[in-house]
Amino acid sequence: MKRTHGCGELTESHGGLVVRLAGWIHAKRDHGGLLFVDLRDRSGIVQLVIDPQKFGRLAALHAESVIAVEGIVLCRSKETINESLPTGRVEVSVGAAEILNSCDVLPFSIDSARADTISEETRLTYRYLDLRRPTNYQRLLQRHKISATVRSYLNDNAFIEVELPVLFKTTPEGAREFLVPSRIHPGQFYALTQSPQQYKQMLMVAGIERYYSIARCFRDEDLRADRQPEFTQIDLEMSFVDMEDIYSLIEGMLQKIWKDVLAIDLQLPIARMPFHEAMNRFGSDKPDTRFSLEIKDVTAIFNNSAFKIFADTVRRGGIIRAINGKGLADITQGELKYLEECAKSHGAKGLAYIKVENSIWKSPIDKFFSEEEKSALRETMAMEDGDIVFFAAEKWERACAILGRVRLECANFLQARGILKIPQSQFNLLWITDFPLFTYDESANHFVATHHPFTAPHREDISLLKHAPQDVRGKHYDLVMNGIELGGGSIRIHCADLQEIIFHEILHIPRNVMEDRFGYMLRAFRLGAPPHGGIAIGLDRLVTMLTGGASIRDVIAFPKTQRGQDLMCSSPSFPSKSQLDELHIAPKVREVTQCKGCKNKS
Ligand code: AMO
Ligand code: AMP
Repeated sequence: MKRTHGCGELTESHGGLVVRLAGWIHAKRDHGGLLFVDLRDRSGIVQLVIDPQKFGRLAALHAESVIAVEGIVLCRSKETINESLPTGRVEVSVGAAEILNSCDVLPFSIDSARADTISEETRLTYRYLDLRRPTNYQRLLQRHKISATVRSYLNDNAFIEVELPVLFKTTPEGAREFLVPSRIHPGQFYALTQSPQQYKQMLMVAGIERYYSIARCFRDEDLRADRQPEFTQIDLEMSFVDMEDIYSLIEGMLQKIWKDVLAIDLQLPIARMPFHEAMNRFGSDKPDTRFSLEIKDVTAIFNNSAFKIFADTVRRGGIIRAINGKGLADITQGELKYLEECAKSHGAKGLAYIKVENSIWKSPIDKFFSEEEKSALRETMAMEDGDIVFFAAEKWERACAILGRVRLECANFLQARGILKIPQSQFNLLWITDFPLFTYDESANHFVATHHPFTAPHREDISLLKHAPQDVRGKHYDLVMNGIELGGGSIRIHCADLQEIIFHEILHIPRNVMEDRFGYMLRAFRLGAPPHGGIAIGLDRLVTMLTGGASIRDVIAFPKTQRGQDLMCSSPSFPSKSQLDELHIAPKVREVTQCKGCKNKS
């Protein structure tokens, strides 16, 4: 029986028409002499009216059984119209039916409202059932539309899509990698690409000029709501460009996505904020600017304080920062303890605070403050009744990170109390610029690349490279929205000499290691490399934010759990003995993999 219509397409204009439909039994209601079946396909749901005398076998089917029917579209009488269903003005009176597959008892209902109460573990084990829920289908559909829009925009801008390898070589500087043993070269491994970074730069050396791909990336990281071990980037690279070219290209792309997918006119240009300002005001390089709660510097107030912790911090070159959790003076002991723990997880030694209640300051520390200090603090922090001010007396980076976290947690508490309203449908896009090119790694005792080692320094900072690397700004930009890093990229180094200085003299990569890992790149840069730059936008994160998902798992067809497993097909799994033999895997690995109950012998 060939389908003529989608279930969700039928309207009064189809009245009197004989249609053939196929789909899943979404719900069934037995009204004595009549059986009502809600038939669902990806286009929607329509009500079938069935005579149980004629189609007794349909009445016996479980929900989610697959059927095909032929019937006549009837316009419903006024009293029976179902306004909550897009097809609720019609129903299909079934004249012929075929059972395509009967369904066993379901592990959970497909009904959207109820399935949200099912544990994620169960939903991911039966992901194909979970995906039948219309909200999930809509998310995949939106993802498809966003990818299609991106492709069309980049094609129109003279980019060509090039597929790049995912079997790459190990470059241990970035995130932890997934290694793939080589059968042909015993003992050697590929690494799955963390991103196509080096390949796309080689495409520029190859004269491709404008490359893009919707690229699969692999990182063996600890997983969170916005991180998956395999994820997708809108990845691109261009030759003969500077930062402004990338900004305007990406802004145009985002504007088209917003227009085509959300029917919203995105206002351009996107605001820009230097890294240091973001850290100082919001305590984060991916600030959520939908609400203020800004951090203030109060170091000058406490230069000579009688409060030893503050005075000592200043003397040692640290700073004192504070944030006013406006309206949160009624914070509970539990919340306060939680905040303190959050602060400590970022290296805080404590979390001093002052509450203002009925014009009285309540605090473990205000007894140490002079009247001048109090008055300056009151003014700087705009302290009023009902407020609570938190302090961090630390080194700059740590103070920023601590109060950045306190800011987000205060925002959550204030939202729960209805004091702060963060507009959920507002998209605060921001370019973060002027990142330091290098960050000092205390444990390694040398500088590391803040992003990746291919980022070009600002031209005017090149003279600082050798004697003040900490002050060199990179030509790097991050795209941030509502507190999430959506993308990042940079203008790259294209001169071999500069790249070599950075690898060897600043990042302390020994010459033999540099040759082994990056020798091919340095050679390529000596063989006619054009100036180039690019960016990668996290597609999963973008789609999640545009579709209102809670986690990127919501917009990935078959995501991994927080523990990196695909519960539907039980991956990862143990390889067979013969597979291990072929790969010449060392006996120790074999021992581990086989002793854990590996049943699949060769
Ligand atoms: P970066 O490492 O910043 O840059 O990655 C770019 C964007 O990819 C997304 N992303 C992730 N999404 C889901 N799960 C993950 N584990 C994950 N890790 C990153 C983020 C991030 O902003 N090659 C460079 C880009 C360049 O320089 O052109 C790169 O990969 O949204
Ligand atoms: P103490 O004198 O150690 O009891 O500390 C007094 C208050 O200051 C406590 O509330 C501590 O949590 C807090 N505190 C201690 N060290 C710091 C710091 N470096 N920054 C901010 N608050 C701190």
